[in-house]
Amino acid sequence: MNTSMPTPAVKAVDIGARSRRDGSEIDGEFAEVLITSRQNVSPRRLVAPGPSSLQLAGILRAAAAAPDHGLLRPWRFVIVPEARRADLAEVFALALIDRDPGATLDQIESARDKAHSAPLLMLVVARLGQDEARIPSLERMVSVGCAVQNMLLMAHSLGLGSGLTSGQAMQSVRMRELFQLALGEEAVCFVNMGTVAKRKLPRLHPDPQDFLSAL
Ligand SMILES: Cc1cc2nc3c(=O)[nH]c(=O)nc-3n(C[C@H](O)[C@H](O)[C@H](O)COP(=O)(O)O)c2cc1C
Repeated sequence: MNTSMPTPAVKAVDIGARSRRDGSEIDGEFAEVLITSRQNVSPRRLVAPGPSSLQLAGILRAAAAAPDHGLLRPWRFVIVPEARRADLAEVFALALIDRDPGATLDQIESARDKAHSAPLLMLVVARLGQDEARIPSLERMVSVGCAVQNMLLMAHSLGLGSGLTSGQAMQSVRMRELFQLALGEEAVCFVNMGTVAKRKLPRLHPDPQDFLSAL
């Protein structure tokens, strides 16, 4: 797959009228409820079924609608199918042993488990390379974050749970090798998706007064 150039595969939806397919207008309340009710669901609380292929297509279209300065599409995603989960588990385990040769068997087993829990497991790769130097990597990362958030919200709107996982293994050479990351690419985190087995209590969100000021 050529990941160097973005190809606009899907036409943008004309939202001039902000209308749904049935002609009704979308409203701010829907968006606010959707956005503020999303929660991170840890992989151990996610069970089958994961997203159907139709749902996954919608989730990926949501990612593709992220703001993207310079239209670089500074991300790509790699699904880890069941058949390759053991390979990822091995990377998690060996990356832990590399960092901590004294890791206990329990710690190694729980590192391995991270590869097995969620029905859908997908690596987020940031493409921060020099192909368009005028767009700094900081801006590209904002775009990556927006793409990830779009996917989480889309999954939430479909009644699915999702959560992000990361950790020190993300930066390991073993991870780079397994996912064949090119120069300028970084493994950011994993997106986990599935059916929520158990929801945790919602957290309090920060007060906007604490993060807004006027010049
Ligand atoms: C890039 C990134 C990586 C994350 N990695 C982890 C992780 O390894 N483990 C974890 O429990 N949560 C992880 N999270 C999720 C956060 O812990 C979670 O978003 C935060 O607790 C706020 O909760 P909420 O998303 O339910 O509002 C990650 C979030 C981001 C943005």
